[in-house]
Amino acid sequence: MTSPTTFPASGSASGTRSSAQLIRAEAPVVAHNYHPLPVVVARAEGTWVEDVEGRRYLDMLAGYSALNFGHRHPAIVEAAHRQLDEVTLTSRAFHNDRLAGFAERLAELTGLDMVLPMNTGAEAVESAVKVARKWAYEVKGVAPGRATVVVADGNFHGRTTTIVSFSTDEAARAGFGPFTPGFRAVPYNDLAALEAAVDETTAAVLIEPIQGEAGVVIPDEGYLTGVRELTRRLGCLFIADEIQSGLGRTGRTLAVDHESVVPDVLLLGKALGGGIVPVSAVVAHRDVLSVLRPGDHGSTFGGNPLSAAVGSAVLDLLATGEFQRRAAELGDVLDRGLAALTGTGVIAYRARGLWAGVDIDPAIGTGRQISERLLAEGVLVKDTHGSTLRLAPPLTITEEELHTALEALRKVLA
Ligand SMILES: Cc1ncc(COP(=O)(O)O)c(C=O)c1O
Repeated sequence: MTSPTTFPASGSASGTRSSAQLIRAEAPVVAHNYHPLPVVVARAEGTWVEDVEGRRYLDMLAGYSALNFGHRHPAIVEAAHRQLDEVTLTSRAFHNDRLAGFAERLAELTGLDMVLPMNTGAEAVESAVKVARKWAYEVKGVAPGRATVVVADGNFHGRTTTIVSFSTDEAARAGFGPFTPGFRAVPYNDLAALEAAVDETTAAVLIEPIQGEAGVVIPDEGYLTGVRELTRRLGCLFIADEIQSGLGRTGRTLAVDHESVVPDVLLLGKALGGGIVPVSAVVAHRDVLSVLRPGDHGSTFGGNPLSAAVGSAVLDLLATGEFQRRAAELGDVLDRGLAALTGTGVIAYRARGLWAGVDIDPAIGTGRQISERLLAEGVLVKDTHGSTLRLAPPLTITEEELHTALEALRKVLA
C-alpha cells in the first residue's frame, strides 16, 4: 500500500476553490454513490442556500425533509450552541441530563410511551425490526427463527443490508446479496393483499404512511385505518415509518394523524435532528419497547446530549402547531399551483401539505434534466424514478417564495 507523502496545506481547500474546481476535486476522493446536481453550497439560511460564488438558490428539497424548519433555525441553533458549551456526548454508559426531557416531549407529542433513541433513519428501521422480532418471540410466541415482517412494494426504508433485503427496487439491491430472510412484500394500498400475507409468524407490518422515495405515493383514505384494524385483529405490530412524512411535513404532526391512527411503533428521523445532527427514534408502547433489556441493542451516539437538546428544540417548535398549520395552508397554494400546471408539462401530481411528487411529461425532459433547468433558474429540487420531481420545501417557506418556485417550474416546462 502506498501512502501520500505530501498533503494539501490545511486551509488551502474550499475557501479558495471555485464550484467547478470543488466538483472536480470530489470525483477521485468521494465515493460516487450519489449523482448530485452541479451546485456547491457554502452557506444557508432559512429557505435559501448560497453557493461558493455567492449565487442564491431556493431550497425546494430541504434535505429530503431533514430541514423542515429551514436551514439554521435560530431556536435550534441556539439550543445546539448552548449544549455545545455544556456536554455533547456521554454514551449510554452513563445518564445525561437531556435525554429524559427529550423522551418525555416525544412521547407526549406522539401519544406513545417510550423512546429508543438512535441516529439515522436506517438505524431506527433496523432497530424496529429487531424489536418486532423479539416481541414476536417473547410476547406473541412465534417459533424461534420464524418471525416475519410484512412490507409494501415500492418501499424505501434506508440502505443497510437488511433493509435492502426487503426493497422491491432492483437498483437498491443489485450486487448486495445475500439478503436477510424473514420479509414479505405486498402491494401498497391493498388491504386484502396485506391480510393474506399476515399469518401466525408475522411480527409486524412495516409501512410508510406516504411513500416518499417512490414519488410521494398517498394511499386511499381508510388504508391506514385498515392497517391499524387488521394488525390489531390479527395480532401483529403496526410500524409506521414517518422518517420522511412526519414532523409537520403533511400539514399534521404525523401523516397517520390524517386518519387519527396511532401505530404500535413509530419511526422518526430526518427533521428530528433540526438539520444539525442525525437524530432518529423508535417510539412505541411500553409493552413493546420493554422487550429490550441491557445488552440487547445499542448505539454509541444514540441519545447523546447534543442530539437530545436539538431534538427537544425541534419538539418545542412542533408543539406550537405553527409549522403544521403553515404546511397545511401553503400546501393548498402548492396544490393549486401544480393543478394549474397539469396538462402543460405536468402529467400528474400527488401532494399532501408541503410535499409533492410531480410527474413530468417525458417528452419535455427527464426529471434530472428538469432539475438541472430549475437549478439554472435558482431553484433546487430532486428527481426520483426517472420523470418525477419531489418537492419538499422547508415549512418556513413564504407564500411568495412558493410562487417563485412554481413560476420557475412553469418556465422550465414551457
Ligand atoms: C421513509 C424513510 N425511512 C428511512 C429512511 C432512511 O433514513 P436515513 O437516510 O437517515 O438512513 C428514509 C430516507 O430517505 C426514508 O425516507
